[in-house]
Amino acid sequence: MQQHGYLTWEARMKILLGTAKALAYLHEAIEPKVVHRDIKSSNILIDDDFNAKISDFGLAKLLGAGKSHITTRVMGTFGYVAPEYANSGLLNEKSDVYSYGVVLLEAITGRDPVDYGRPAPEVNLVDWLKMMVGSKRSEEVVDPTIETKPSTTALKRALLTTLRCLDPDSDKRPTMSQVVRMLESEEYPIPREGRRRRKNQAGAVETESHNRKSTDSSDRPILMTKTRSDHRTNA
Ligand SMILES: Nc1ncnc2c1ncn2[C@@H]1O[C@H](COP(=O)(O)OP(=O)(O)OP(=O)(O)O)[C@@H](O)[C@H]1O
Ligand SMILES: [Mg+2]
Repeated sequence: MQQHGYLTWEARMKILLGTAKALAYLHEAIEPKVVHRDIKSSNILIDDDFNAKISDFGLAKLLGAGKSHITTRVMGTFGYVAPEYANSGLLNEKSDVYSYGVVLLEAITGRDPVDYGRPAPEVNLVDWLKMMVGSKRSEEVVDPTIETKPSTTALKRALLTTLRCLDPDSDKRPTMSQVVRMLESEEYPIPREGRRRRKNQAGAVETESHNRKSTDSSDRPILMTKTRSDHRTNA
């Protein structure tokens, strides 16, 4: 499944589907649910068959039945943290869904979530994606190192799933089991509610970039967990 050291589209989607299933288990199959809080590509380990394993539970929080969210000190990794959690410390499993959306986007594009080496409109991967999709240039976001390009349907399915995970409104993000169903779905376009949501995307994008400006104006990472000792002190 590998070509010249780069992962193929199919390998990437297998890893992301496995990760989605693991998160669906943590969020929906156990009680209390587990919010990982540090979902990012370096915390997804893979074996030779591209089976995914989520690692680094040092920041994980438990969320008991009947609790819609907890308020906690903001932790995680710059570029992956959901806007409502970064802005107000409000945490629930939908924060992991956002971070998962960023990882899915990395897999599609081969780009880092924040890359200061790129031209200004491309520094923030999520903003760049929304701009590209908004100007009907979706085909151009695919990682150029993928030799066999995904079909238009497969790409649209992955991008629609990504955009839904990245919804600035955490309540509108899908659950991880819905993400699994979307990624496995053979149909396109997928759900009705997905289409309705996309019509509202422009307004939603506006809200998010406004939020980001107000928090990131200092240009420094809002949070960092570079070392394991950080995890221990702050978990
Ligand atoms: N068991 C493992 N087998 C192979 N590679 C691993 C293993 N655990 C971690 N890695 C890799 O080692 C590197 C460092 O991992 P580490 O978890 O220390 O830092 P990180 O994921 O970049 O940040 P964080 O401390 O926030 O998790 C990452 O690229 C990660 O994918
Ligand atoms: Mg790690």
